[in-house]
Amino acid sequence: MNYIIDGPEQIVTPLGALPVRGEQQDRLQVITGKSVFVADGKIAGVDTTPHLLKRFSRAKNARRIPGKGRIVLPGFIDPHTHLAFTGNRREEFNLRLRGSTYMEIARRGGGILSTLKSVREASPHQLYRDTLARARTCMAFGVTTVEAKSGYGLNLKDEVKQLEVLQKVAKDVPLRIVPTLLAAHEFPAEYKQNKDAYVDLICGQIIPEVAQRKLALFCDVFCEKGVFSPAQALKVLRTGQRFGLKSRLHADEFVQSGAAVVAGQVHALSADHLNFPSEEGLMAMARAGTVAILLPGASMFLLHRQHVNVPDLRRYGIPIALATDCNPGSSPTTNLLLAMRLGCFTYGMTSEAAINAVTINAAVSLDLAKETGTVEQGKCADLSVWDVPHYLDLFYHYGDTPLAFVMCRGNLVFPKKV
Ligand code: NIG
Ligand code: FE
Repeated sequence: MNYIIDGPEQIVTPLGALPVRGEQQDRLQVITGKSVFVADGKIAGVDTTPHLLKRFSRAKNARRIPGKGRIVLPGFIDPHTHLAFTGNRREEFNLRLRGSTYMEIARRGGGILSTLKSVREASPHQLYRDTLARARTCMAFGVTTVEAKSGYGLNLKDEVKQLEVLQKVAKDVPLRIVPTLLAAHEFPAEYKQNKDAYVDLICGQIIPEVAQRKLALFCDVFCEKGVFSPAQALKVLRTGQRFGLKSRLHADEFVQSGAAVVAGQVHALSADHLNFPSEEGLMAMARAGTVAILLPGASMFLLHRQHVNVPDLRRYGIPIALATDCNPGSSPTTNLLLAMRLGCFTYGMTSEAAINAVTINAAVSLDLAKETGTVEQGKCADLSVWDVPHYLDLFYHYGDTPLAFVMCRGNLVFPKKV
């Protein structure tokens, strides 16, 4: 089916396939008086409706979707989630409100290892059902692409189980799912006394099998004091690259751990969290073109008060993206619109910077900027359409979710009254 989104109040978008940096991040194209013609899953043209009808013979039979009172943005891209999990850790949140920290709870057997237990025990079908439901809720917040990690299996069988579930979910929803191997998320109990042996298992068995079966496109490591050291992270990421997996990192979330430096060294596409990067790390990231993916939801939910200094990132010319970090421990939400708003409240980002952060810069971090992330002729028809007359309303009405529908590669999802 082809569509004309007819005369929206605004089409609001970055342009091109390059990341936006520094002050550029505060700018967007705001196009008025034009419509969007979608054909065969692609954006075929952005022009006035009469011109579209004249330029494209196929446009005459396209279904018209009224744009009055609405705005069109690129479909949002959530570039950091742990979507494939089961179980919940609601008690941990309450413990934190009583003064425990995330790391203390993890040391007492909660944290990642508690979700590990649920995921290992779950049947593939249970895990599929929970992950599918979560993938659907992503789209309800305007998301058309989501990165999703393993990391709750921590052995060959269960890491593969998570990635296979993600592959199946990707077939059953219109959302684009970008899979990441995160076997280096934590050390499972079996290897607590022999951490290097677990790194060897990842490099010798898990990465080769996952890459050979094309179950992931990226390899990620939680590089943090007390978890994977910079040397271990380098080994895992370089092995991943030898097998064709591109690199991203959980970097310097709790303390300065040398992870941003590693990100630069391996030319990681992203370094995420990044609350405590060193100057050297920022310099290395800037040289490598690494995107900083900020996760304000996780900071808020862990009751952290100290964050990365966004003006520093801008000064270094490091592109900024935002993500939900959806996971059962530090950020149990798929609400990317909330993460955008928290980007404004937590870091003082502008509305425009928050939109760039979940469109073009997020696309760059997933190596997808030629396909998606802007509303432009030739790109995939990944769109989010909102029932507000101005893009600032998405931030001003900070508690509302005025989504009209999303379109994922030309497939219409959640149409209210199109
Ligand atoms: O990105 N920081 C490490 N990993 C996740 C949390 C995972 C969990 O607690 O289950 C994160 O916040
Ligand atoms: Fe994470």
